Amino acid sequence: MPKAIVIGASSGIGKALAHLLASDGYQVGITGRRLDLLEAIRKTSPDRFIVRSFDCTLDNNLSELEALVEELGGLDLLMVSAGTGDLNETLDASIENKTNLLNVAAFTQIVGWAYNHFQSQKKGHLIAISSIAGFRGNKMAPAYGASKAYQINYLEGLRQKAHSEGGHVLITDIRPGFVDTDMAKGPGQFWVASPEKAARQIYRHIRNKRKVAYVTNRWRLFALLMKWMPRGLYKRF
Ligand SMILES: NC(=O)c1ccc[n+]([C@@H]2O[C@H](COP(=O)([O-])OP(=O)(O)OC[C@H]3O[C@@H](n4cnc5c(N)ncnc54)[C@H](OP(=O)(O)O)[C@@H]3O)[C@@H](O)[C@H]2O)c1
Repeated sequence: MPKAIVIGASSGIGKALAHLLASDGYQVGITGRRLDLLEAIRKTSPDRFIVRSFDCTLDNNLSELEALVEELGGLDLLMVSAGTGDLNETLDASIENKTNLLNVAAFTQIVGWAYNHFQSQKKGHLIAISSIAGFRGNKMAPAYGASKAYQINYLEGLRQKAHSEGGHVLITDIRPGFVDTDMAKGPGQFWVASPEKAARQIYRHIRNKRKVAYVTNRWRLFALLMKWMPRGLYKRF
């Protein structure tokens, strides 16, 4: 039975993806801080899910991951869906720090650990959920946008590293637009997808071994617009 871990599976996109993996034959390690939510998922299919509750930003994050891999009896696929971000128009440093701690520092530790694990066994698929928000700065949530730009760039670095080290490790960067979860904050949302629809598309991209994918698909158009919009025009929004 193939083995997967979803980091940040207690709600939202990670939860929906964990269910899809389980129904497609994976044994899935699910993580998050909210143990009650993880246990509720496990109860839907006790032989498919293994629960490990920990905070990714604490020092024990990698030892918790290693213990989970041990319990699963191996690892073929790891998806990082844990993320945070808040609107922060006053630039409150504690909000920015919380975002950077998870989306940058913990993200780096976890994807680095996964890369080395997969490289040492000469196979494995690392997937991370970045965001369309990583393309341009955002006045309402500056650290969130910047942290997602970091993730996009870091994943590209890992993909280049994998290529130069034999191509054993697959790296997939999923860039969603709006998905209807607690994370989707702020006014003027559009093209909002349900977590289930987003997860179905993400799983298709995973199976197709895509390097980069937009979810839902039409966000690719928005990504192009963001990429090429002149600075002078962008600053007016
Ligand atoms: N929703 C959107 O519109 C959207 C758009 C683009 C990108 N994304 C990205 O998609 C990813 C998933 O977010 P979502 O939309 O599914 O939101 P969500 O429902 O809030 O899911 C976030 C997950 O991260 C976990 N998490 C948060 N802080 C954590 C910590 N310190 N340690 C361990 N786990 C932690 C949460 O679990 P616990 O609270 O139980 O710890 C939860 O399972 C995020 O990276 C987000 O940036 C979302």
